[in-house]
Amino acid sequence: MPRKVHNSRWSMVDDYLDDRFIPSDPALAAAQKASAAAGLPDIAVTATQGKFLHLLARMQGARRILEIGTLGGYSTIWLARALPPDGHLVTLEADATHLNVARENIARAGLSHLVEQRLGPALETLPQLTGPFDFIFIDADKDNAAAYFGWSVRLSRPGTAIVVDNVIRSGAVVSPRSSDTASRGIHAMNEAIRLNPRVSATTIQTVGRKGYDGFLLALVNE
Ligand code: SAH
Ligand code: DHB
Ligand code: MG
Repeated sequence: MPRKVHNSRWSMVDDYLDDRFIPSDPALAAAQKASAAAGLPDIAVTATQGKFLHLLARMQGARRILEIGTLGGYSTIWLARALPPDGHLVTLEADATHLNVARENIARAGLSHLVEQRLGPALETLPQLTGPFDFIFIDADKDNAAAYFGWSVRLSRPGTAIVVDNVIRSGAVVSPRSSDTASRGIHAMNEAIRLNPRVSATTIQTVGRKGYDGFLLALVNE
């Protein structure tokens, strides 16, 4: 893991933005509390990022969403709330403890009927899925990012949006040390995207409570 960059002003601004754009939300607050109580790592997307994903999925008119990397289901809740009543979200998780915490959080949010959880390493569960999905959020281990992106394109239709979390990693992505397999994984994904004529992609750098990182957005071409 590269040394994390933090800045108190970025966190202060996240607090300011939360107060204005993120109404207090019992289900999301309970999910955060239960995830922390269960000892899950504090690495879910922030509230403003979760809402950003939610709005992207709504812009997409997504009826079928795929998420790779559930953790406690915090981002899952934001994404599932973008679905219509007959929508569907499949979320993949390798860790049974994380999956169980997420199941309770999703149930408490009243979203169980929309969400299907699959346990196992994503490289094993992805080949079992049937597409196409309208919106895909990649947020599991970064070492396999290129493979997850390849599977996502396979499970897409023209017009599918793919978002990848944690693609800047405090800037380490531009010169990853040999031991930093996560940054190398993201770099390999970026190289694969550069050579893939099926997608148009860009990356936006972000700062905030979680430090300095970024989101990749790709659109599968017509
Ligand atoms: N999307 C979540 C955060 C996910 S953290 C949120 O923002 O709320 C990354 C998750 O990916 C962890 O729960 C971790 O257990 C899971 N993970 C790691 N390697 C994996 C793999 N090979 N297959 C599936 N999930 C994996
Ligand atoms: C890590 C993973 C994430 O998905 C994230 O958003 C932040 C950190 C990590 O593995 O350290
Ligand atoms: Mg992440």
